[in-house]
Amino acid sequence: MTLTIAIDGPAGSGKSSVSKQVARALGYGYLDTGAAYRALAWHVLARGTGAASDTADEAVVVAAASEFPYAISLDPDDYWVRVGQADVTAAIREPRVTAAVSGVARVSAVRAQVNELFRRLVRDSGRPGVVVEGRDITTVVAPDAAVRILLTAAPEVRAARRSAELSGEDAHAVAAALHRRDAADSTVVDFLTAADGVTVVDSTELDFAQTVEAVLDVISATDPTP
Ligand code: DC
Repeated sequence: MTLTIAIDGPAGSGKSSVSKQVARALGYGYLDTGAAYRALAWHVLARGTGAASDTADEAVVVAAASEFPYAISLDPDDYWVRVGQADVTAAIREPRVTAAVSGVARVSAVRAQVNELFRRLVRDSGRPGVVVEGRDITTVVAPDAAVRILLTAAPEVRAARRSAELSGEDAHAVAAALHRRDAADSTVVDFLTAADGVTVVDSTELDFAQTVEAVLDVISATDPTP
């Protein structure tokens, strides 16, 4: 059986880099679920211009999801995302995809479809464990996970981290975009409050190494195997 470590949190909480590092430290796989929604948004946008690629149109999104040849690496040291033959690892981080992704992620039929995909990826990973990160992993995708963590940080700290990542972009614009995406995403899943049994790790005052340590501490306190 593959052990699941579920980590949820908002954008800019450090969730992706921390989850990847935790997976490395434990010799586990790493599954970035946001990448599936991003890849699907990319796939919709790639359908051309006009109505056929309207990520706000539910029917368009559902049609695109029905033929979505998505593949993702679970190796934290060799991370890639593909749609068909296209390597979209970098493209799914482009602002046009980030702006479109919330529209795709709010379609419930799509969520049900990708959640099945996530569970299958974990089951078939061939690894002793997988660190799965996203917004609804602790609540919907893997409510029975061995360890469930909500990684948070104060909004201004998240905005500062995100604008440091996107060097050259205006800090106010980055903060505003982050706020807009949080607001849109939180209408779909509540990723700002911890569900019952979920441990909160607040990284506001912690640097990267300290946050990784805090998460590993929660894991070793809850799960006997690592
Ligand atoms: O973590 P991220 O920024 O790469 O996520 C991309 C989008 O996907 C984000 O706007 C929220 C959504 N998402 C989601 O709804 N559920 C998940 N489990 C992961 C991401």
